[in-house]
Amino acid sequence: MLSTITLNRASSTPIYRQIGEQLKTAIAEGKLPAGTQLPTVRQLAAELGVTRLTVQTAYAELQSGGWIEATVGRGTFVSAQATMPPRWSTVNGAATPATVIGDLLQMGQAQGMRSLASASPDPELFPAAEFWANLESQRNHTALVGGYGPAQGDATLRIELAAHLSERSIEVTPEDVLVVAGVTQGVSLVAQALAQPGDCILVEQPTYVGFLHQLRAYGLQPLTTPVDADGPSLAVVEQLAATQRIRFFYTIPSFQNPTGSCMTPARRQQLLALADRYDFFIVEDDLYGWLAYDDAPPTPLKAADVNQRVIYVTSFSKTLMPGLRLGMLVAPTALRERLTALRIAADLGSPLLLQRALAAFLHRGDFRRHLRRILPIYRQRRNATLRACEAFMPPGVQWTRPHGGLCCWLTLPAHPAMHDVPRLVLQQGWAVAPGSVFLADASANHHLRICFGALPDEHIRRGVEVLAQVIRQQLENAPPSADVLEAWLPLL
Ligand SMILES: Cc1ncc(COP(=O)(O)O)c(C=O)c1O
Repeated sequence: MLSTITLNRASSTPIYRQIGEQLKTAIAEGKLPAGTQLPTVRQLAAELGVTRLTVQTAYAELQSGGWIEATVGRGTFVSAQATMPPRWSTVNGAATPATVIGDLLQMGQAQGMRSLASASPDPELFPAAEFWANLESQRNHTALVGGYGPAQGDATLRIELAAHLSERSIEVTPEDVLVVAGVTQGVSLVAQALAQPGDCILVEQPTYVGFLHQLRAYGLQPLTTPVDADGPSLAVVEQLAATQRIRFFYTIPSFQNPTGSCMTPARRQQLLALADRYDFFIVEDDLYGWLAYDDAPPTPLKAADVNQRVIYVTSFSKTLMPGLRLGMLVAPTALRERLTALRIAADLGSPLLLQRALAAFLHRGDFRRHLRRILPIYRQRRNATLRACEAFMPPGVQWTRPHGGLCCWLTLPAHPAMHDVPRLVLQQGWAVAPGSVFLADASANHHLRICFGALPDEHIRRGVEVLAQVIRQQLENAPPSADVLEAWLPLL
């Protein structure tokens, strides 16, 4: 296998990382099972024509990630932990929002597998140097940043956040901003403030699995409107708003998770008008708004919200690092005060140290610089995903073509055999998210979400190829259902 390591000396990826990544792939795909002895540093360096230091660095990274183990005097071996197969958990035979979220969080840490399942940014692209420098700059303020802070959020950070929002055409004062521990907490506070168990909340279908999980947890009833490439169907929104009491409409207008769909400016205007006419709030989740690859970032609904219908929530989880757990919420004043009281009840507020470090990061222009660095990379990964789908997917499979964000939504032929695809792909060391958990009623089992943020192009291509092979095999081996025949017959 090691003879199949190919090095691209023209690539900007360092050689040691190319070696490490190819070894990880071989381990993940079972080509190097647990216990396999790797060549010595000297042997591999000679085989590949690189320095020993290069191989040593690659091995050291693999070792610190738990992929391999080195025993003095014996050699270097693939570790058992690297090849332990992760599983998709189920409740009564079906994945649920809670099981999938739990599995995704775990798989992010698991060695021995590659994940296209989680809508995560690439940890290799985290702004490490800048962020640590900004943290370090707080060292002389330990007495302050080590203490409690205002529940609404640190004033210095809120000044920066108001300026940051203004770049998305949302004109607010620092007083209007509530700092939250991510969008997850923001929408959770809103759900607690605006709804009682049994109330109806309108969501897109499909939508963010984490919000569906919250609806279940709070005993709220989802009503759904379908999403196309131009955003949610407003005809359905209107019909539901006219006949039901809707507490709010949770929407992800810009580069939606899981479809990547982006609401057109015309639909945004119409949606605001509907909220006025039928008197409901819109909760705008703008987590992916900055990650625009083909045009300028879309203007949020909040920017045109003259009648205070929109509760705007976003965070730095996709643009910077999800582990920061810092985001912001803008709501009409009375509601914001209620949300702040709920925030106090939940956890008193976000750590001042992180808030101050983020404020310094924004103040120094590091966010803009970071965005300039990551956008071309994510654009390329989006392109790699679409190219791989075109190259490998069998007929009958459809996928969205997102202009931003991190997600692409696949629709497979509506065949029961498709149900097994995530499990079978996992056996080959790759994770893709089962689509059913993004549906409020889990009514269909033939969708998948693939996310292209966290892996380099060549891995995305390989992952999509493996996925396509599994889908093809399933289609070939399973007795065809009517829908599958429909998709395949014209091509036979
Ligand atoms: C649409 C959407 N909203 C919210 C979240 C969670 O965001 P946060 O990390 O800010 O809580 C995610 C994470 O994937 C998401 O895709």
